[in-house]
Amino acid sequence: MSLVRVHNFSVSLDGFGTGEGQSRDAPFGHAGERLHEWMFATRWWHETIGRPGGTGGLDDALARRFAPDIGAEIMGAGKFGPPGWHEDPEWKGWWGPDPPFRTPVFVLTHHRRPPIGMRGGTTFHFLDAPPAEALGTAREAAGGRDVRVGGGPTVVRDFLAAGLVDRMHVVVVPILLGRGVRLWDGLEGLERDHEVETVSSPSGVTHVTFTRAGP
Ligand SMILES: NC(=O)c1ccc[n+]([C@@H]2O[C@H](COP(=O)([O-])OP(=O)(O)OC[C@H]3O[C@@H](n4cnc5c(N)ncnc54)[C@H](OP(=O)(O)O)[C@@H]3O)[C@@H](O)[C@H]2O)c1
Repeated sequence: MSLVRVHNFSVSLDGFGTGEGQSRDAPFGHAGERLHEWMFATRWWHETIGRPGGTGGLDDALARRFAPDIGAEIMGAGKFGPPGWHEDPEWKGWWGPDPPFRTPVFVLTHHRRPPIGMRGGTTFHFLDAPPAEALGTAREAAGGRDVRVGGGPTVVRDFLAAGLVDRMHVVVVPILLGRGVRLWDGLEGLERDHEVETVSSPSGVTHVTFTRAGP
């Protein structure tokens, strides 16, 4: 069976996966880019956006686990665009004509629209379905490969609550956001069903991996 994986999901010390006040000019609200500075510094990210440079080391090694063996992504409407994107027929996500996903992407939304084919293998599909049903659709599209749950915090939380996530890589960034959307609410005791490993990076972030215990 293909796995359900979460990668590079960044949270503040107080557990927020995004800030407050998301808009076209501020995809992460008042958090700005602070949740992902560790990732933007890596060689993997530089390769992804076609720029030379970037750091090697632990952050890079873990960040680049994002793509291998992934056949589809599921994301929330809040990751796909700012509030109100569904009123703009031209909105195709934040990532330009060649998004980094390169697989089918299923956007969970109550505002469905026809699929949008992008360059590089990404197609956005719009799905109004509960997590288990959405996963079934994504698995079919993934053709036996794994499915990534790409965020935001609401969708990752919903998939965790439904017991659907097999592997999760959370990156704890040493900042306090104070407000925004929290990842952990309602997930008390999540660690009991997982092997949890933690490693600190010289960059200042802490990588926490959750591996769901086998049967
Ligand atoms: N920290 C990270 O690493 C990370 C990663 C990715 C994204 N983000 C950030 O996270 C923020 C978005 O997160 P979020 O928690 O606000 O929103 P989200 O999880 O992206 O999406 C939640 C929304 O998706 C739709 N939805 C969710 N489940 C659904 C279902 N089963 N059926 C139909 N529609 C469903 C609903 O929107 P509608 O009712 O409007 O359709 C819901 O309000 C953005 O700022 C993004 O930049 C952070």
